[in-house]
Amino acid sequence: MNNDSKDMPSASTKAQRGSAYCAADNPFLGSRGLVGGSGEKRKHRHNNPYEHPLLLRPYDVPEHITAARQLFANGPIEVEIGFGRSHFFRDRVLQAPETQFLGFEIKLEWVRRVAKFLAREDRMDCRVVLDDARPLLLQLLPEESVRVFYVFFPDPWWKKRHHKRRIMTQEMLDVMYRLLEPGGAIELRTDVRDYFARVDELFQNDARYERIEPGIDQNGQALPLTHREKKCRETGIDTYSLRARKASQS
Ligand SMILES: C[S@@+](CC[C@H](N)C(=O)[O-])C[C@H]1O[C@@H](n2cnc3c(N)ncnc32)[C@H](O)[C@@H]1O
Repeated sequence: MNNDSKDMPSASTKAQRGSAYCAADNPFLGSRGLVGGSGEKRKHRHNNPYEHPLLLRPYDVPEHITAARQLFANGPIEVEIGFGRSHFFRDRVLQAPETQFLGFEIKLEWVRRVAKFLAREDRMDCRVVLDDARPLLLQLLPEESVRVFYVFFPDPWWKKRHHKRRIMTQEMLDVMYRLLEPGGAIELRTDVRDYFARVDELFQNDARYERIEPGIDQNGQALPLTHREKKCRETGIDTYSLRARKASQS
């Protein structure tokens, strides 16, 4: 697998760029609350973009949206947002060979590592995205297609005026609800007690979700640990986790 794969669509025109963010009823439109400011600015961060057939850059290559929707049409899909050094993502891909995986991360080095890993493992049914997950979830995934969303040790965005940049908000619960298959789940782990308490409260006030035991998959297998989680265990830092399932409608 090399960088200049012929499978990659060419970069779009300037006018086309950004269209990935413009779907109707997507609460994460435009520049509002995006990591690092507007998506338009973010694309300049990777001025020498890495290309790989398993790496999606929907902002620069809008064709990646159609390709992803086709690839993920049948599922089941597990999605990790902010996989970082990808300890969990890679272990989980190995643990669940029948499941498709989609991972989001904004750091090029770590996205590149996972793209190469997936190619080595011949997991051509999985993809990684180099961009802010929030505006792209509704773009890339069909409704009711996701078995689990994993959000592990998300950036805390400590300052109150930055809380809108947090991954887990009411808007995100609404988006995930649309994308989860019946009985699908959201799993959160964090070492930030205040962040956990706020998300816990969101779920408690949302009758569309019911709490179930975290840390195990639908087959009863223990889920792998993340890099941050391993560090917390080594250094004795407390962590908090929850799993919420899309409740069946009565
Ligand atoms: C504190 S690290 C945790 C990494 C990993 N989940 C772990 O537990 O070791 C948070 C990660 O989320 C990524 N990230 C933050 N906001 C993101 C977003 N909106 N979309 C995708 N990735 C994001 C960051 O680049 C960072 O790698």
